[in-house]
Amino acid sequence: MFSYRHAFHAGNHADILKHLVLVHLLDHFRQKEKAFWFIDTHAGAGGYDLRGEYAKKSGESKSGIALVWDRKDMPAVLAPWRDEVAKFNLGLGGGEGVPRYYPGSPRIAMQMLRNHDRVRLFELHSSDSRELLRSVEGEAPRVIAQAEDGFEGMTALLPPAARRGMVLMDPSYEDKADYPRVIAALRGGLERFATGTFMVWYPQVQRRESQTFPDRLKRVQPKDWLHATLTVKGAGSDGLGLNGSGIFIINPPWTLPKMLAEALPWLVKVLGQDRGADFGLENTLR
Ligand SMILES: C[S@@+](CC[C@H](N)C(=O)[O-])C[C@H]1O[C@@H](n2cnc3c(N)ncnc32)[C@H](O)[C@@H]1O
Repeated sequence: MFSYRHAFHAGNHADILKHLVLVHLLDHFRQKEKAFWFIDTHAGAGGYDLRGEYAKKSGESKSGIALVWDRKDMPAVLAPWRDEVAKFNLGLGGGEGVPRYYPGSPRIAMQMLRNHDRVRLFELHSSDSRELLRSVEGEAPRVIAQAEDGFEGMTALLPPAARRGMVLMDPSYEDKADYPRVIAALRGGLERFATGTFMVWYPQVQRRESQTFPDRLKRVQPKDWLHATLTVKGAGSDGLGLNGSGIFIINPPWTLPKMLAEALPWLVKVLGQDRGADFGLENTLR
């Protein structure tokens, strides 16, 4: 098993991009009364204490959520994400000001989905899956978490009974085999559920697999995709570190490009660490 623990990274710039988009997608599904499914192939522990041992050690939320939280000039399109973080803190007694707790994708979905919707979560790490399973106790059948491989778990669930829904694939890419596994899972997922929305997160790091990944993702389906990146710093001479991240979505809602066009320039301004900070936004929506 690899050593990745999401608690080190909770509330960083990559989480902000990922969860801003996730909240937008889930909100879009909620616009219709008909039930939908949310499948999270790499769920993590569920939620995180930013004053906990791991988060404090890395300090990543200080150059992430702490910089955006109280900004008076925050664009309105970030409000739905901010509201979900605030709601999570309210439930845990997190108090006012910069949040103490940060919701991962499972907790965001659990807050947003209705009684007739379904949340299905997969997490392999022994400690994180234990925490995740504990956090969903008593929530079945609305929410079910399994300590199993998310790529295989997702395949078994598609197409969802409701024939509406989305999959989030958010591996750590610590193992470079995650890159081809995501591509294969996307192809397999689309064969089973062609109208489904599939969201992939990936890191911008100085690794060939990461740099060629967007082009490989674009070849999965020629149309109806959106690709967005948030780069917070230029590539360092040491070749180390996370410079930014990207999200790639197949079958996104038509409202997503406009939301990101408003959010991304502001996020670059607030989260950018040097002159290499930038964003990218492209799509093939008709
Ligand atoms: C980036 S974190 C997930 C964060 C979470 N999606 C969120 O947004 O809050 C990736 C997680 O995937 C888990 N993982 C790694 N390989 C997996 C696999 N094949 N199936 C399920 N989980 C896996 C890791 O233990 C880690 O907790």
